[in-house]
Amino acid sequence: MRIAVVGTGYVGLVVGACFAETGNEVVCVDRDAKKIRMLNRGQIPIYEPGLEELVRRNRAEKRLTFTRDLRDPVRGSDVIFIAVGTPTGEDGSADLQHVLAAAREIGQAMNGYKVVVDKSTVPAGTSELVRAAIRNETSHPFSVVSNPEFLKQGAAVEDFLKPDRVVIGASDARSAEVMTELYRPFTRTGAPIMVMDCASAELSKYAANAMLATRISFMNEVANVCERFGADVDKVRQAVASDRRIGSAFLFPGVGYGGSCFPKDVKAIVKFASDRKYRFRVLEAVEDVNERQKLVLLAKLDAHFRKAIKGKTIAVWGLAFKPRTDDMREAPAIPIIEGLLKRGARVRVFDPEARAMAQRIFKSRVHYARHAYDTLKDADALLVVTEWNEFREPDFVKMKKLMKQPVIFDGRNIYNPQQIRSFGFTYSSIGRP
Ligand SMILES: NC(=O)c1ccc[n+]([C@@H]2O[C@H](COP(=O)([O-])OP(=O)(O)OC[C@H]3O[C@@H](n4cnc5c(N)ncnc54)[C@H](O)[C@@H]3O)[C@@H](O)[C@H]2O)c1
Repeated sequence: MRIAVVGTGYVGLVVGACFAETGNEVVCVDRDAKKIRMLNRGQIPIYEPGLEELVRRNRAEKRLTFTRDLRDPVRGSDVIFIAVGTPTGEDGSADLQHVLAAAREIGQAMNGYKVVVDKSTVPAGTSELVRAAIRNETSHPFSVVSNPEFLKQGAAVEDFLKPDRVVIGASDARSAEVMTELYRPFTRTGAPIMVMDCASAELSKYAANAMLATRISFMNEVANVCERFGADVDKVRQAVASDRRIGSAFLFPGVGYGGSCFPKDVKAIVKFASDRKYRFRVLEAVEDVNERQKLVLLAKLDAHFRKAIKGKTIAVWGLAFKPRTDDMREAPAIPIIEGLLKRGARVRVFDPEARAMAQRIFKSRVHYARHAYDTLKDADALLVVTEWNEFREPDFVKMKKLMKQPVIFDGRNIYNPQQIRSFGFTYSSIGRP
């Protein structure tokens, strides 16, 4: 099939590369000229495991191309994906301006029947708005499909190639068939392709993300209660997770969830439910708990230094909102570092991939170390904020020699408390004695 993908970000680029990999001819469009120039030079604007190789191979085979202009790709394609951003608007709603602008532009360029697929995460009912936006611009026939994307950053390529399920919201058999055909190569291992109405498909994505966010906030609260009773959240988590009705995923306490999806999707579902006069109380609490959790390490630091943080050197390991990505959107590292700077600390940071992103945020207000150990020189404390694998088994003897005071606040519970204390560190983690 010939496919156009409008919006070449974390989702659009992965979707485009993976559909090219199964033999389709894909043109990825983005209005960001710099991004398209990079991609046309063979550079990948984001870090995502396996993506570079996929893009390189499919570019070489001429199945994957990049352009700024949407007109020719739309005219030359059977299926057009919209994968633009849906950021949080001022009132907490999903801002649909990019989706609707893309829909209008697609409508203007159309020259015959097209399947227009909304891959962006959008509130229930958006397919109707997309349909109306296209209909205003063209008299050609078209179908609108809602096909939410469930990939995880950090494992995006793998998730897309081997999905747990594919959700297709369609209002006619023709477009449902085209989509089923397109996804068949990815579901050979038995993952279901679920065809449903558009509103249910749109809601499925929000419900899934909201459930995951709920598990995280729930477990963070359990951890906070554990701390008040000297209980160990690791033990509690294992006991809870071994219940088959519950399972083990997304039960790790930490410094709160971040990223471009959970925070905005939780806000959006609360907002669109309230637009229909329904108050989603559980998710209001999930968000509130998460905002507080991002500040838990700062509170521990304040308590340890008796609020005398001014002039102290604090090292931070991990800036990205999670490992294996360079994405810092809504990363807990941001309020943590801002809090340190506000308290007058000197901050030294390291992240294996997110340095460039961090430089845009903090400019020259923090020191960017080249290696994890460099952050530790003369540090009064280390905060572990993102659980990159390379932080898991460091040389504790070397660390202790480098640091002014051997103090670690572990926001991801990656170290064994007994072991790390045996090296002479003062150690504090989340929900563990
Ligand atoms: N990032 C994820 O892990 C993830 C996972 C599942 C779903 N989603 C959803 O997918 C959507 C895209 O997310 P993302 O993280 O890829 O966003 P992103 O910001 O990385 O990429 C969006 C891209 O769209 C481009 N764009 C915007 N308007 C355009 C237009 N009219 N024409 C051409 N290009 C345009 C932007 O320049 C940008 O490059 C969002 O709705 C998001 O919620 C994201």
